[in-house]
Amino acid sequence: MRGRRRIFVSIICLLSIACLFGNMAYAAENKLVVHADQGEHEISRFIYGHFAEHLGRCIYEGIWVGEDSPIPNTRGIRNDVVKALKRIKVPVVRWPGGCFAEEYHWMDGIGPREERPSMINTNWGGVTENNHFGTHEFLDFCEQVGAEPYICGNIGSGTVEEFSNWVEYITFDGSSPMADLRRKNGRDKPWKVKYWAVGNENDGCGGQMLPEYYAHLYRRFQTYLREYPGNELYKVATGSDPSFMEQVVKMSGEYINGIAYHYYCYPGPSRSATEFEEEDWFLLLQKAFLIDKNIQNYIAIMDKYDREKSIDLVIDEWGTWFDVEPGTNPGFLYQQNTLRDAILTGIHFNIFHRYKRVHMTNIAQTVNVLQAMILTKNEKMVLTPTYHVFDMYKVHQDATYLPLELECGDYKYDGKGIPAVTATASRD
Ligand code: AHR
Repeated sequence: MRGRRRIFVSIICLLSIACLFGNMAYAAENKLVVHADQGEHEISRFIYGHFAEHLGRCIYEGIWVGEDSPIPNTRGIRNDVVKALKRIKVPVVRWPGGCFAEEYHWMDGIGPREERPSMINTNWGGVTENNHFGTHEFLDFCEQVGAEPYICGNIGSGTVEEFSNWVEYITFDGSSPMADLRRKNGRDKPWKVKYWAVGNENDGCGGQMLPEYYAHLYRRFQTYLREYPGNELYKVATGSDPSFMEQVVKMSGEYINGIAYHYYCYPGPSRSATEFEEEDWFLLLQKAFLIDKNIQNYIAIMDKYDREKSIDLVIDEWGTWFDVEPGTNPGFLYQQNTLRDAILTGIHFNIFHRYKRVHMTNIAQTVNVLQAMILTKNEKMVLTPTYHVFDMYKVHQDATYLPLELECGDYKYDGKGIPAVTATASRD
């Protein structure tokens, strides 16, 4: 292949779906021009990131089955799930939440498992969390998958000391109380963990904070997240809605590497993933396209205070959020996954690729929760339509984004229209 460049083009056509519903109104000639001789920015591979929270059956059953399980595992982590995730080249996994992160005390999740204290997962179903999957297990999982870890720290109910100690425990190579404790727990060498979130949704489940309060707290917490030799840190602040984000960037922007934004696509009327008519289909995909405007809006606000454009946008939760599958625990957010999810995924990626400032995104969530890649039932596992989009699109990771012009008709429903075709292109 020396001297030759490969060009990757992904095209999503919404028309086939309209036909399924008997909507044959679409008729147009489509024209796609890819500017293969242009291209300025790289599509960050971290756009293909994942999110795994202690929620429902994501961690327990979906990833962790324990060393004594009859389900084939490596040090307690499911082999089938790891193999599937390796295939799609998962670049980064965000953990342990979500809302769960804001009541998680990491020291409860280290040391001999049978001695770890349990807690109530108050956000998600009120179930007992036994803390068997903690820091060592998560970092082992990331190493098995070949992904970078992205850890979300607790600033809602945790202390500065606790968060600071976590960074020391994981990343400090010398002799210190935390590094020595890590060694006692079986890990001599530190791990490298670059990505840290200073809280999660702190205007909501992360403490109901006002933006000014959070911006102060962010400054204080991030001060004590130390960059030990050999480990670079990248700190992510809660962005929430545009007005909250504006205050945070204005007051604390100089200490922020990435600002977090969450975007879920909910259906109009409340329905499960497999119950939909054409109207539901149309409205959901229309919401997917809206993320484009929202990204532009966020970037415009960030640019007011960040003239150097040094702060990235980190969309560290996104995807579909339907009613849970009938008969399942409402707190477990277990939903099925269809071609509708797959198309919505492609629409998102085609938009994310356009923006250099979008450094990372993390689909919610990896296994058995919301828009999952993988669904498991005991020893069985299925790969969802969403998984296959991640598989087909992995060629775009770190490739150079190619501008394109697309002329297409609209997919029309009830007098409203969205593009019937969407596309993206890149070259290596
Ligand atoms: O992904 C489920 C939840 O959605 C997360 O815990 C929270 O951050 C968001 O509101």
